[in-house]
Amino acid sequence: MDRTASRTTPEDITAAVVSSFDGCDDNRLREIMQALARHLHAFASEVRLTPREWEEAVRVLTATGHITDDRRQEFILWSDSMGLSMLVDALANPLPPGATESTVLGPFYVPGSPAREYGESMAEEAAGVPAWVYGRVLSVDGSPIAGAELDVWQNGDDELYAVQRAEAPEDHLRGRYTTREDGSYAFLAVRPVPYPIPYDGPVGAMLDASGRHPWRPAHIHMIVRAPGFKSVTTHIFDRESEYLDSDAVFAVKPSLLRDFVQRSADDPETPAGVEGDWVSLENDIVLAPEANGGT
Ligand SMILES: [Fe+2]
Repeated sequence: MDRTASRTTPEDITAAVVSSFDGCDDNRLREIMQALARHLHAFASEVRLTPREWEEAVRVLTATGHITDDRRQEFILWSDSMGLSMLVDALANPLPPGATESTVLGPFYVPGSPAREYGESMAEEAAGVPAWVYGRVLSVDGSPIAGAELDVWQNGDDELYAVQRAEAPEDHLRGRYTTREDGSYAFLAVRPVPYPIPYDGPVGAMLDASGRHPWRPAHIHMIVRAPGFKSVTTHIFDRESEYLDSDAVFAVKPSLLRDFVQRSADDPETPAGVEGDWVSLENDIVLAPEANGGT
């Protein structure tokens, strides 16, 4: 043992890891890995992470992998519940004034929804109070966008998305709608209800241990796409919902709150196939041209 050699410090360890990426030919990968090493080490140093806590973190990550499959995405739940999904989205989507704001995709989006007609119901079975959602898709200059696609999905009044229920019809409460020549669209949804993000796994344990709740305010998801325009992944939030000020995934933006209007069964505008009371909601979507919005 060389008693004259200096002791290895925590800073030495961090420096060695950071410099281990110096030879990385991919500039972006080198930037990411070196910053990750610096911040990860700074985090452990700041909280003086103990070996036992480190072991627990490994156990939690292992459990996260084990519970994740084609229908359950616990990694996205971690990202959502730590606000990382919202942060990444905000960094990637600097939209011009007037354009509809984006928010999280969430873990329940399943590509391949069926194409549906103007005004068609996306409920394949009873799922709550019928909600007629309508509006126009516009460019930021106010001109209507014909042929825009609204890819819509939501939960029913059982608080679940179809993908969470093995017995649910595959296309229940989801669909793709196309705008008409004047940019108008309409679809028959159900009034969404608040629901908890899945809390029977590692994320739920974290929320419980830290005194947070798993609830999300009532919302309908949509991705709106149109050629020549930047796609937007967003929500419509029910302005009267609980949890708007404590969304478990930090996705609420004031500009996305909308009003559901109570309508009665004898209303002359009652959509075909609707029996009993219903609600309506007007919601215009404003897209930014691709050239203004980056990628
Ligand atoms: Fe959702």
